[in-house]
Amino acid sequence: MGQNLWSGGAVVIGAGYVGLTLSAFLASKGVRTTCVEKDHARAERIRRGEAPIHEEGLQELLRRVVDEGTLNVRAEMGGVLENSHIVFITVGTPTGSDYIPDLSQVQEASRQIGEALKSSSGQNPLIVVKSTVPPGTTWNVVRPIIEAASGRVCGEGFHLCSNPEFLREGSALHDTMNPDRIVIGAKSLEAAEALKSFYDHLYTPRKIATLITTPTNAELIKLATNTYLALKISFINLISNICESLNDADVGAVAEGLGLDPRIGPQFLRAGLGFGGSCLPKDTRAMRGLAASLGVDTSLIDSILEINKAQRTRVVERLSTMLGGLAGRMVAVLGLSFKPGTDDVRESPSIEMVRELLSRGAEVRVHDPKALNNAKQVLESGVTYCKSVEECLMGVDAAIIATEWPEYSALNPQTARSLMRNPLIIDGRRILDHEQWASAGVKVYKIGLRGPDG
Ligand code: UDX
Repeated sequence: MGQNLWSGGAVVIGAGYVGLTLSAFLASKGVRTTCVEKDHARAERIRRGEAPIHEEGLQELLRRVVDEGTLNVRAEMGGVLENSHIVFITVGTPTGSDYIPDLSQVQEASRQIGEALKSSSGQNPLIVVKSTVPPGTTWNVVRPIIEAASGRVCGEGFHLCSNPEFLREGSALHDTMNPDRIVIGAKSLEAAEALKSFYDHLYTPRKIATLITTPTNAELIKLATNTYLALKISFINLISNICESLNDADVGAVAEGLGLDPRIGPQFLRAGLGFGGSCLPKDTRAMRGLAASLGVDTSLIDSILEINKAQRTRVVERLSTMLGGLAGRMVAVLGLSFKPGTDDVRESPSIEMVRELLSRGAEVRVHDPKALNNAKQVLESGVTYCKSVEECLMGVDAAIIATEWPEYSALNPQTARSLMRNPLIIDGRRILDHEQWASAGVKVYKIGLRGPDG
């Protein structure tokens, strides 16, 4: 099957961050790729070579592979399996009720694959589940749906693997091109080896560390990875809050020291407003839902989520104390995306903070180099959207740095001071040199340090 997979075409169902970057990358490697995106307008944009998301390098690559004809985009599955030997499911799995992910898009994709298989005279394809799903989904949900709709049996009429994706937004294309590991979950070694040899070919001459395991383990590895990353962030935020109550403590130095222990490692120890985005919060909730459904104690996971949520309110609370209330105060929020390098505002700490400020009667002005339009879609009215940082800082009583975009680290203290009515900055991402700013007459309250007001 392995060599066959490489020589045939690929189908990618769902053009989100994972599906779109994977499609563009496969096509750039000469794999004839069809991306199936059910949202007609989105499919049309991609067909024109326009990336609907901001990811470095994606726009250029997409245009090239669309122009060259190696990437086709369509809104329907019909006939697409005839010449394709590998099918990736990359649809979304948003949080549903009771912390359990909503699998309806995965179920729908499985049904469509099954129906396409029924009428296909082509080879027995390998179906690869890349969507993040609860353990057991590939084997107990995807497989029976495909079998029922196709009339074929897994292992004979098609093959099935779980293959979680670990890319980060903001570096989606880079991560897709340079994965640091590949996890393959399969019940049959033949299917696992076929996918492994497909990836060996794709990444040649690089050898990527690959773990072959059961589908359930593969699915759990993804949820456990993101929950662990979330745990590290909430842990350092807990330490950060302790630092704020001590004289002479700084969470930056504590994190640096922690990171020197190779058993801990330096990554994901940046204290701040907490984690957001489409994955960490959702997958941590999914882990919580899974544990609860199995009767396993959830208190550790609950704490991760609670600390994360409280982190934003703490900052607003603090600002309110510093300003003697927020009603009628004008506050600038710098950064709306959940992290720099992306225009994604899903579960962004910044967006939730803006809401908190508004609910306490503040007048809110916002800026973001990439995410203004996306923020407009989700924020309620009453927010002033500014095209430049300078415009955003004009006449405000305080500013909060919510996303660590490079332009905010490069801000000039004198300029900021001349624009603000009251020179006070809450550095929610710890990017400013507070001493330099203090000498320019701007008070900076940096998360993880005792504030200038003690
Ligand atoms: C994450 C995982 O890293 C990736 O492997 C998975 O495939 C998808 O989920 P992503 O959502 O793109 O990727 O963002 P990530 O870089 O992990 O950051 C998530 C959030 O945590 C951001 O809001 C970021 O600001 C925050 N964060 C990250 C911190 O607050 N501190 C840190 O030290 C690191």
